[in-house]
Amino acid sequence: MRMVDVIEKKRDGHELSMEEIQFLIEGYTNNTIPDYQMSAFAMAIFFQGMTQQERVYLTEAMVNSGDQIDLSGIKGIKVDKHSTGGVGDTTTLVLAPLVAAVGVPVAKMSGRGLGHTGGTIDKLEAVPGFHVEISNEEFIKLVNDNKIAVIGQSANLTPADKKLYGLRDVTATVNSIPLIASSIMSKKIASGADAIVLDVKTGNGAFMKELDDAVDLAKAMVEIGNGVGRRTMAVISDMSQPLGFAIGNALEVKEAIDTLVGKGPEDLQELCLVLGSHMVVLAQKAKTIEEARQMLVEVMENGKALETFKVFLASQGGDATVIDDPLRLPTATYIIEVKAQKEGYVSEIIADKIGTAAMVLGAGRATKDSIIDLAVGLVLNKKVGDFVKVGESLVTIHSNSENVGDAKKRIYEAYSIVEHQVKAPSLIYKEIL
Ligand code: URA
Ligand code: CA
Repeated sequence: MRMVDVIEKKRDGHELSMEEIQFLIEGYTNNTIPDYQMSAFAMAIFFQGMTQQERVYLTEAMVNSGDQIDLSGIKGIKVDKHSTGGVGDTTTLVLAPLVAAVGVPVAKMSGRGLGHTGGTIDKLEAVPGFHVEISNEEFIKLVNDNKIAVIGQSANLTPADKKLYGLRDVTATVNSIPLIASSIMSKKIASGADAIVLDVKTGNGAFMKELDDAVDLAKAMVEIGNGVGRRTMAVISDMSQPLGFAIGNALEVKEAIDTLVGKGPEDLQELCLVLGSHMVVLAQKAKTIEEARQMLVEVMENGKALETFKVFLASQGGDATVIDDPLRLPTATYIIEVKAQKEGYVSEIIADKIGTAAMVLGAGRATKDSIIDLAVGLVLNKKVGDFVKVGESLVTIHSNSENVGDAKKRIYEAYSIVEHQVKAPSLIYKEIL
């Protein structure tokens, strides 16, 4: 087989076979196909798209390019959740112990990554002593014993995707639904879940800014998941403003603790209940969404969800006393209020700008090697629809430097305040089954 013939076939809009797709992904992974041919191929896909069958083959080929995690030693149906990412998205910290508390096995493989705050692992490391450097055997034993454990991502997970994503980034071919969907799904499938709940965000703080694009991506991912035999569904949720109140690593752990007992921000709690209910149903621990939701509300109210979080933290070396005494989490030296300069209703909070404000305080990584300050970040005191008086605090800055001018400027740019009443945006736009 010659790569040039495969490129030509796709360029002219024909459907590729499984063998052709395997040939190019294997060749690209082991460096027998050069970047320039793969670039041409990615551009051909950008213009010609891919059929449903081709997307499944591509995803499977990328899964097979590296390690796959074998979770067969874990009893029960393993359900994973994936979010396409947003600002202040504390859902994983809440959802993992929440669904584990009703008996769903949560075997989470997680990463660090770049962003406004750290990834799930960075956030959890705000709990003194907590670590994810555990063996596969220990990981599986912990999930069987406690229904929940988190392990760091294998370095050799979907190497084909890693290489291709890097290439797409510099060849203007990131923005292609088949390529995005297969990229995300290959990583989830290689991580070993039996079923997957996707949280696809839309709005200015999301990867997919427009609802229609988010729906297209969600449908593509759901089709791939089901096409490779993993039951998959998606929820399209709002990211036109940050989720919850807290943006920052230790601050989000505190927010998760509050939410696990039903005292967290309303939007975060609701999204966790919606996503969690689907996870419980896919894990076959409940027959209907209503029944699942009732189970989750119950473990929030009776303390079992929080207790599960405690056991989880302690079993991976964490100081679980932070749960009763969140002041033991890393705290920032300076607490600075950003006060409203105008009276009215908050009509917009540009999530991206808030994210960048948290990032310049040190909450996230700008490059792979940046060191995160786990203590710093923001707490939003006003969200879209809220009324605010002059001098009232919009946002509380937690900083380890007195110099917060840059963050403050970004926060003021993010907030719009108008005279007329404003409705809070919808939280959930659609569910794709
Ligand atoms: N995130 C991914 O993991 N892959 C893409 O292609 C785009 C976003
Ligand atoms: Ca949050």
